[in-house]
Amino acid sequence: MKEKIDALREQFSRELSGAGTSEAVEKLRVAYLGKKGSVTALLKGLKEVGAEQKKEMGQHINQLKRQVEEKLSEQVEAIRAAEEQRQVEAAEQYDVTLPTGGAVGSYHPITVVQRQLEEIFASMGFTIEDYKEIVTDYQCFEAVNIPKDHPARDMQDTYYLENGQLLKTHTSAAQNAIMKKYGAPLRAVFPGRCFRNEALDASHENTFFQMEGMMIDKNISISNLIYFMKTMLSEVFERDINVRLRPGFFPFVEPGFELDISCTLCGGEGCSTCKGSGWIELCPCGMIHHNVLRAGGIDPEEYTGFAFGLGLTRLVMMKYGVGDIRDLNSGNLKALSQFTHE
Ligand code: PHE
Repeated sequence: MKEKIDALREQFSRELSGAGTSEAVEKLRVAYLGKKGSVTALLKGLKEVGAEQKKEMGQHINQLKRQVEEKLSEQVEAIRAAEEQRQVEAAEQYDVTLPTGGAVGSYHPITVVQRQLEEIFASMGFTIEDYKEIVTDYQCFEAVNIPKDHPARDMQDTYYLENGQLLKTHTSAAQNAIMKKYGAPLRAVFPGRCFRNEALDASHENTFFQMEGMMIDKNISISNLIYFMKTMLSEVFERDINVRLRPGFFPFVEPGFELDISCTLCGGEGCSTCKGSGWIELCPCGMIHHNVLRAGGIDPEEYTGFAFGLGLTRLVMMKYGVGDIRDLNSGNLKALSQFTHE
């Protein structure tokens, strides 16, 4: 039996030196120490050994078992260290000063303008809020004064989930939650991706971005609204922009307005993007309806406020002269990077 033990030790040494990966070492562990392994078989074989030899052989086998265990762990450790060394060397070979071949990343134009707007509003004391894209019917419609069966829902058909939730059709879906979060007074802007079931054309997409804002305090009036809108637009365009305000209907504002800017693509002459009118609808807005304030836990007798829903995607088109909205969602890097690279 002693010879068998010694032969197995030698066989193990040989096989171990050939095991260069952690998988191979694991195979060896099973082959020697596993339930059906050779060392285990030796231990089982002790039964047949005479009583006087049993103790001695038992010690030999156990010693072999310990050696096998130790050597296996040493081998695993050595493989890990070698792998680490390889990685360090590979990292050293990587030359961070190599030219990139022109493939420099850039922000999407919508991100650029969104950040710019966030900065402008933050400087005017607004907080910047994040909000979900999947919302409940209550958040998207009921809380903003659009009850079930209200005709205003027709213009905001969207994508419904099996659990009854939906992809938000406008950033106004966040109004209620933000009012409940802060109470009055509050100033907040909340950019977000919105979804509608639209027939696609040069100015309609099923996925687009808005930037909503709310200011609620004592004695807030339409003049505050106009002041903030004008300040924001002149900062974004870095020049004076012609605007016009006309009445607009949204169930969550009263009175409601459409703020249009003179089309920056054609300079107001009329083109396909502005449908020949020379004006682009950019920022619906108005004084927050008392039902909406009340739903948000704010007393309309004490507080008033304005809200606006800036079409961020549209603003980007105006600022960069993008004629077709679909270019912005195309993921075409060549088309997009021209707007954000100097
Ligand atoms: N949520 C409206 C829309 O997407 C825009 C809006 C926001 C209008 C805030 C008024 C006030 O059509």
